[in-house]
Amino acid sequence: MHIGFCCPGVSPEPWQAEIEQLMPQARLSVWQPGAPADLDYALVWMPPQAFFDEQPQLRGVFNAAAGVDALLKLRLPPQLKIVRLEDAGMGLQMAEYVCHAVMRHFRRFDLMAQQQRQGLWKQPPEPDRASYAVGVMGMGVLGSRVVQALRAFDYTVHVWTRTPPAQLLPGVLSHVGAAGLPAFLAHSHSLVCLLPLTPQTQGLLNRATLSQLPRGAQLINVARGAHLVDQDLLALIDEGHLESATLDVFHQEPLPADHPFWSHPRVRVTPHASARTLRTDAARQIVQKMAQASAKVPWAQISGLVDRGRGY
Ligand code: NAP
Ligand code: GLV
Repeated sequence: MHIGFCCPGVSPEPWQAEIEQLMPQARLSVWQPGAPADLDYALVWMPPQAFFDEQPQLRGVFNAAAGVDALLKLRLPPQLKIVRLEDAGMGLQMAEYVCHAVMRHFRRFDLMAQQQRQGLWKQPPEPDRASYAVGVMGMGVLGSRVVQALRAFDYTVHVWTRTPPAQLLPGVLSHVGAAGLPAFLAHSHSLVCLLPLTPQTQGLLNRATLSQLPRGAQLINVARGAHLVDQDLLALIDEGHLESATLDVFHQEPLPADHPFWSHPRVRVTPHASARTLRTDAARQIVQKMAQASAKVPWAQISGLVDRGRGY
C-alpha cells in the first residue's frame, strides 16, 4: 500500500516513523509536485489543489484533523472518500479548555483578578448555579465530550444540533434546528460553538443570534473563525450586552497583528490550541481506518467517513 503524506508545514519524519511501525507493509512518501500518480491513500492537512489534480486515482484521504471545511473547498474527484479524525485525544483537551473558560466566567475570576490589581479584598456575588446554564452548539464527537465534562460539575447544559440527539445525559436539554435556536440562545450564559463550518453555519454567530443571549453572557468559539462575525461580537461587548469572549479560532490564522481582538480587554485569544492533533493517537486511528479500507470494509462502515453533501 502506497500512502502519500501531504501536510504542508508539518514535519513528515515522526509521522512516517509512527505509521510504518504500526503498518510495516505500508510505504509512506512525502508528496512533491510532479510525483508519479501511484498513491492509494493519503494523509493530509491543508493540502494544495495540485495534490488532488495530480493524484486522481486516490481511493481515500485521511484528514489529520476533525474539521474538513478547508478540504471541502477544493475541487475533489466526486468518488473520493474522505475520513476525518474522531476525538483521537482532542475530546479531553477540548473539555479542559471549555470547562476552564466556563468556570472563569461563572466564578468571576476576571473580576477577582481586576480587584487584585486594585488591592481590593471583596468576595464576588455568590455563584447562582440554578440560574446559570451552558449552551453547546454541536454535540458530535467533541461536543459530547465537552457536555460530559460540564455535567460532572453539575452545570445545566443546553445543546443545539441539526437532528435530534439519540440520547442525552440527565441535566442536558436539547434544541434542534432553526426552530430550536431562539430558546437555546436565551438559556446560554456561556455559549460554546463546536459546529463544523458549513454553508449553513458560516456567520451564524452574528448580531441577530448573539443578541439573544442573556445579558452578561460570554462566547467561547473553539470551532472555526468563520462562524463568527467579528465586528458584531465586538459591538455587543462594547455595548455591554455580552460580558466577554474566549476565542481560539479566527477568520485568518495567525490572527493579524492589527486585529482588535488582540488588545480588547474582554476578549481572550488563544492560538488555535484548544484541542491539538496528538500525533501518536491520530496515527493509530488513521492506520486502523486505512487497514479497514484496504481490507475492503465498505466505506460507509468506516467511522469518521465524511458526508460530502452535508459538509461534515
Ligand atoms: P462532529 O462530530 O461532526 O459534530 C458536529 C455536530 O454539529 C453534530 O452534533 C451536528 O448535528 C452539529 N451540526 C452540524 N451542522 C449543524 C447545523 N446546521 N445546525 C445545528 N447543528 C449542526 O464534529 P466534531 O468532531 O465534534 O468537531 C466539531 C468541529 O470542531 C470541527 O468541525 C472543527 O471545526 C472544530 N475543531 C476545532 C479544534 C480546535 O483546536 N479549535 C479542534 C478540533 C475540531 P447532528 O448531530 O444533528 O449531525
Ligand atoms: C482542528 O481545528 C481540527 O479540526 O482538528
